[in-house]
Amino acid sequence: MCGIVAYVGDRDCTPILVGGLKRLEYRGYDSSGLAVRTQDGGIEVVRSVGKLQRLEAALAAHPLFGTDGIGHTRWATHGRPNETNAHPHAAGSVVLVHNGIVENHVALRAELEAEGVRFASETDTEVLAHLIAKAVDGGAPNLETAVRRAITRVQGSYALAVMSTKERGKIVVAKNDSPLILAHNEGEAFAASDIPAILPHVPEVLILEDGEVATLERAGITITDANGERVVRQPHRVSWSLVESGKGGFKHYMLKEIHEQPRALEHTIRGRISSDGGDVVLPESGLTPETAKEIRRVCFIACGSSSNAALTGRYWMEQLGGVRASVEVGSEVRYRDAIFGPEDLVVAISQSGETADTLAALRTAREAGARVLAIVNVRDSAIARASDGVLYTHAGPEVAVASTKCFTAQLAALLLLAVHVGRTRGSLSHAEGRRILEALKRVPGQVRTILANARGVRGIAKKHHQSKSMLVLGRGPSYPVALETALKVKEISYIHAEGYAAGEMKHGPIALVDETMPVVVLCPQDRHHDKTLSNMQEVMARGAKIIVVCTKDDAELTAMAAVRARLAASPDGSEPPPSSRPHPGNVDVIEIPDARSEVLPLLTVVPMQLLSYNLALLQGRDVDQPRNLAKTVTVE
Ligand code: F6R
Repeated sequence: MCGIVAYVGDRDCTPILVGGLKRLEYRGYDSSGLAVRTQDGGIEVVRSVGKLQRLEAALAAHPLFGTDGIGHTRWATHGRPNETNAHPHAAGSVVLVHNGIVENHVALRAELEAEGVRFASETDTEVLAHLIAKAVDGGAPNLETAVRRAITRVQGSYALAVMSTKERGKIVVAKNDSPLILAHNEGEAFAASDIPAILPHVPEVLILEDGEVATLERAGITITDANGERVVRQPHRVSWSLVESGKGGFKHYMLKEIHEQPRALEHTIRGRISSDGGDVVLPESGLTPETAKEIRRVCFIACGSSSNAALTGRYWMEQLGGVRASVEVGSEVRYRDAIFGPEDLVVAISQSGETADTLAALRTAREAGARVLAIVNVRDSAIARASDGVLYTHAGPEVAVASTKCFTAQLAALLLLAVHVGRTRGSLSHAEGRRILEALKRVPGQVRTILANARGVRGIAKKHHQSKSMLVLGRGPSYPVALETALKVKEISYIHAEGYAAGEMKHGPIALVDETMPVVVLCPQDRHHDKTLSNMQEVMARGAKIIVVCTKDDAELTAMAAVRARLAASPDGSEPPPSSRPHPGNVDVIEIPDARSEVLPLLTVVPMQLLSYNLALLQGRDVDQPRNLAKTVTVE
């Protein structure tokens, strides 16, 4: 989603703003722009369509020099991604950038047009610029008052940074439902949509809350509430280092983040297993033994990859936690008149902690009396703050749009939670708890093994990167991994892919299978193994090209793959007819280490991330910033 950076100080602000926008690129955008106050007090704007290199080229042709300014990357919602719709937008003395959606912009635009205002763009944002300019012209004593007056007219979400030609050395920011952080150093002040934007300049950040307005000046930052009353806010120390947010020698952030999974998982698990190894310690979850016993249902709420993690969590919560569990996607449950109550534990899962639909849904559940626990990666994010307890995944910053290490870290946190609930409620014995947790502790090392032996995945991707479509099948906890694999394949390679519960194939999707269709089968050694193998044979019999993910030394599968390879080598007429034997072709086998069934999803997904990555690479896609996607989805 859109990214905002603002700076007031003594330094030339253009490189600070452009540098900040570059560190927000992961959020996704299709145009960008800068507004800088010049020596004579005027404000100049440069905007451009496409990547930031194009903005840099525009700035080389038209340099902007000044010590306060605002920058923006726009992810188009209202109006095409062209230069006119790019931010900053100006009206009268006011210039601003905006992240979010003004939901009542049609009515406001009509009202302003009736008053004679002429709009330059198709955006909802321009309405805000005109409302603020109108408040300035209407006698507001200062820019912050004008902003406060204007936002009372607005419904929807916004993070704003506003400058005025009438007030030098000042930028006013405001927010509602879209993230904005602030920071102050000796003689300079910053605002941004996310910490990486200003990380090189400041060790601490302040978080602006919904409804608040802040004034950035060299001397400091003043935060006021909706009534204009002064708010005192303590800064937070930033723990992520810049080194961690670079590419570290990898070609893409996504590849780096895939390889960071062993360490990320160690961080998620660390300090959360009791000294005797049989229990999970989660004081920050806010779940006491009493409250854990009172839970009658666990409802997971999430979007996208996080909802695939949630589906896996449901299996564990019912099997190990002994509690009824359901999964809801944020965008549906928030409008479904869903019934929540005090006996529900709602677990909101989000990498960014800012996803608008998940946030709105958890607020609805909390208002109805449910206890809300957040599983998030970003410290002090909106979802973390709106919940009763938080389990941080501690995976470190995830920059690539497609989630990888945050997904596996979410799985680890969910398994810990299920064991915790099971142990507290007595549905899981100490000995069994210890065996599962021992298996979880081995996972980082096993992921390292998978990554070290993954060279073959590129060869498999080479065979299939020109396919139009792909199916991914799994049963039990491998089913959410199938969904996650399909999501990853389509979002970064743009190859159409669908994940199915393997048992559902014959209820429709098998009609799609022919010799051109690659079918990925997730078939690790667990209680679903033999049934999945049968489903695999059904698609093999119809000519599908199989990629199977199985436990190392799976004798049955190896034998089946060998038969198939032999048939491919000599498909003579002596073989039985196609309907009763595997179709000639080849089976590609990807092996994972032997592990307890509970931790298998954490392993099977890793080669699937690499498969998606390689398919995208071979397709020449923008792996880290796929088209139309944003890292942090702060609008519904
Ligand atoms: C896919 C992906 C998205 C996110 C979804 C929710 O790779 O990253 O599907 O999972 O937008 O985002 P969070 O987890 O930040 O709530």
